[in-house]
Amino acid sequence: MTFISEIEKRRTFAIIAHPDAGKTTLTEKLLLFGGAIQSAGAVKSNKIKKTATSDFMEIEKQRGISVATSVMTFEYGGRKINILDTPGHKDFAEDTYRTLTAVDSVILVIDCVKGVEEQTEKLMEVCRMRDTPVIVFVNKMDREGKDPFDLLDELEQKLSIKVRPITWPVNGGSSLKGVYHLLEEKMNYFKVNKTKLEDDVKAIPLDSEELENSVGDKDASQLREDVEMINTIYDSFNQEEYLGGHVAPVFFGSAVNSFGIKELLDTFCQISPAPIARMTNVRKVEPTEKKFSGFIFKIHANIDPRHRDRIAFLRICSGTFERGKFYKHVRLNKDLRFSNPYMFMADSKEVVEEGYPGDVVGLYDTGNFKIGDTLTEGESMYFTGIPSFSPELFREVVNTDPLKAKQLDKGVSQLAEEGVAQLFTLQPGNRKVIGTVGELQFEVIQYRLLNEYGASCRFEARPYSKACWITSEDPAKLAEFIRLKSNYIAYDKDENPVFLAETDWILRMNKENNPDIEFHTTSEFK
Ligand code: G4P
Repeated sequence: MTFISEIEKRRTFAIIAHPDAGKTTLTEKLLLFGGAIQSAGAVKSNKIKKTATSDFMEIEKQRGISVATSVMTFEYGGRKINILDTPGHKDFAEDTYRTLTAVDSVILVIDCVKGVEEQTEKLMEVCRMRDTPVIVFVNKMDREGKDPFDLLDELEQKLSIKVRPITWPVNGGSSLKGVYHLLEEKMNYFKVNKTKLEDDVKAIPLDSEELENSVGDKDASQLREDVEMINTIYDSFNQEEYLGGHVAPVFFGSAVNSFGIKELLDTFCQISPAPIARMTNVRKVEPTEKKFSGFIFKIHANIDPRHRDRIAFLRICSGTFERGKFYKHVRLNKDLRFSNPYMFMADSKEVVEEGYPGDVVGLYDTGNFKIGDTLTEGESMYFTGIPSFSPELFREVVNTDPLKAKQLDKGVSQLAEEGVAQLFTLQPGNRKVIGTVGELQFEVIQYRLLNEYGASCRFEARPYSKACWITSEDPAKLAEFIRLKSNYIAYDKDENPVFLAETDWILRMNKENNPDIEFHTTSEFK
């Protein structure tokens, strides 16, 4: 197979959802269709159902498994599909945001009973920042949910994106009979709750009498009416608009019953983007370039305290990545090579000789990597678009074991590099403030500091509610602002100054009173 056809074959995406919408179930069904697993229940999700720390720790114990499920690869319909897993729990949303920097498209799962939920909106915002193409899967159609037309309106309003149904449910709730494929113009009728994936799907044209015979007169005429309405209200599906992130194709189904999944997967294989070009600080990098480049979007610690090694996840952006070859670590200006790079199957991992654009490779790391680091075949450039977002909760780290101050410092900074939370340093005094998006992150940090670094600490709440990265065209004005507001200035892991605002009102006042200072809610603003 040629280099170009290797690239064109790849589809790298993430499934995102508000917790409980059905992300894990859908992932599992896709893997079943792809033959990557043989039975339901084989995917050990790294989701955390309750907010108890003990649940998280239980999952941490199975970390070997959750590392493997970070990326799931399978072949289907002539494509090599890489699903990047994202944490289900909202307290780890930042991990999800970062994973979204490494994909080329997204499938967003919505629960038809609950509609668009809080986390759905946040995740979509991140997709819109990057114009990531999004397909929506409306799940749980076997339940009495909202009217499908109302759901489409809700999607458009709350997610600020145009939608275009591709499949349409025939009836719903316990009487769900199948889905009509609006592009293929036939109804896939599900006779029974399927136990085997290939079972019992019958394709029926809309205008055939068989439709009445299969679903009954009432549902047949309702479907014809709906289809006419859809074709009147919505523009016909345009792939370019989808690829530009302007329109989201919508599918309906029930993941747990395998309804509507094959339709989703087949269309996904046809329309979703192959690996796309990516921006660096100096130029755009095309996947087809011969020279290798890639970036680290996730770092996974080994939970075994005797082994401080980590796995850094590399997204290949261009060229061929080869085992054992030297590559340039741009930030450190150092050549590194990797003798055991891993690729991940549904439930295992294996050493690979090479990888292509779109692939994700796991690299053993003894502390060289931070999230966002770039590897190249020599060029000095780094990939952009991997920002940190403003945290919502801030706490100062207070050492409770004076003999272990060094361990605490090291642990806190390594966990920040891993992206478990954001670290801000206040001056004077080198005080460390940790910023997170959820309570659970603090518990995890405390647990890991103790177990992996032997350091104990407590957290003292700080009244900040937002961190804004600050810049100015006039360095003197920036220095003056930093001097005047020194109590509210901290430095992030890359030594960039950050203004910590206690309330939105304070932030607004500071913006108004300091027109020469720019306030940014993400760390990337070039
Ligand atoms: P998540 O990863 O997005 O958090 O969701 P997950 O797939 O775990 O699904 C959440 C719950 O919704 C699960 O039930 C799952 O079985 C159920 N579910 C998924 N798809 C469908 C569907 O199409 N129809 C219906 N009716 N339910 C669905 P649970 O009781 O929380 O867990 P479990 O014990 O069934 O695994």
